[in-house]
Amino acid sequence: MSAISINNIVKDYKNPKGENKILRVLENVSFNVEKGTIYGLLGQNGAGKTTLIKILLGIVYPTSGNFSLLESKQNDRNILEKVGFLPENHNFPKFLSAKEFLYYFGRLSHLNTNDISIRTTKLLDMVGLSARSNSKIRTFSKGMMQRLGLAQAMINQPELVFLDEPTDGVDPIGRKEIRDILLHLKSQGTTIFLNSHLLSEVEMITDRVAFLNKGKLVKEGSISDLTATKHEFNLVLSTTENLEHLYPSFHIKNVKDDIYYTRFDNEDELNVLIDDLRKNNITIREITPIKNSLEDVFIKLVKNTGDINE
Ligand SMILES: Nc1ncnc2c1ncn2[C@@H]1O[C@H](COP(=O)(O)OP(=O)(O)OP(=O)(O)O)[C@@H](O)[C@H]1O
Ligand SMILES: [Mg+2]
Repeated sequence: MSAISINNIVKDYKNPKGENKILRVLENVSFNVEKGTIYGLLGQNGAGKTTLIKILLGIVYPTSGNFSLLESKQNDRNILEKVGFLPENHNFPKFLSAKEFLYYFGRLSHLNTNDISIRTTKLLDMVGLSARSNSKIRTFSKGMMQRLGLAQAMINQPELVFLDEPTDGVDPIGRKEIRDILLHLKSQGTTIFLNSHLLSEVEMITDRVAFLNKGKLVKEGSISDLTATKHEFNLVLSTTENLEHLYPSFHIKNVKDDIYYTRFDNEDELNVLIDDLRKNNITIREITPIKNSLEDVFIKLVKNTGDINE
């Protein structure tokens, strides 16, 4: 079942530099997001990520193409009752307390006072802000603000939630907490669509990703497919023998004390060496396949389209 289906979306803005020229910010973008998954939309600044989210939420109209959320018709605004949104660069009213803020958004979602109260208690607990429910937003750190933003996005118990840079400006511990919240939401069946530049983070929690480069979809796939192993291996050995001299052709380096390291891109050669090492009673500490990180994949993609230099 599709939570989001996007078909050939094109978005043109008026080019601020030339009166009659257009700026194409999305070019024939198509992909699907399955229900119950975490999906990441990645790309450099200005790639078109926020524009695509705004189109899906009906804030901005596409120039052409169509989409559907939770299998509804494109112009069915009622479906938004089942959708949550954390915008980027939000500016929450600082004079409200966390509780008042969630009450306000609960009312915007047409919840009754009793339901808002139940949801607020639950959500503030989920994002770790129960103890600060009566504190004014102006006293919140960036991390707390983002966690409150997540609670806001979930106030109407959405089936699908859009998060634009949910960990923006948040420190590593705060980012880990947000990742855990997102995994918890996924375990409850919520579909999560997020924008981010933080590739290593996205890699930890998303099921699939799409890479946008200057408005074009340049790659789409599951994390496991995109980061598939390179058929290269790290080999760590431990011995009092001098392996640099014993195996000169294998480029083995002594890294410290009795620890040696080398890297292989040929499985046959690796197996020959392993046989020999075992015969000589040399301890094999570690053989690990080297994987592409999402960052490797992205940098390669951008390089191939000629946007950054080697
Ligand atoms: N209202 C607008 N009018 C004209 N151009 C716009 C408008 N909104 C966005 N753009 C342009 O569209 C392009 C895509 O912007 P968008 O905000 O979608 O990028 P993004 O991928 O979200 O970037 P970031 O990572 O910096 O948030 C940019 O070139 C931007 O200047
Ligand atoms: Mg953006």
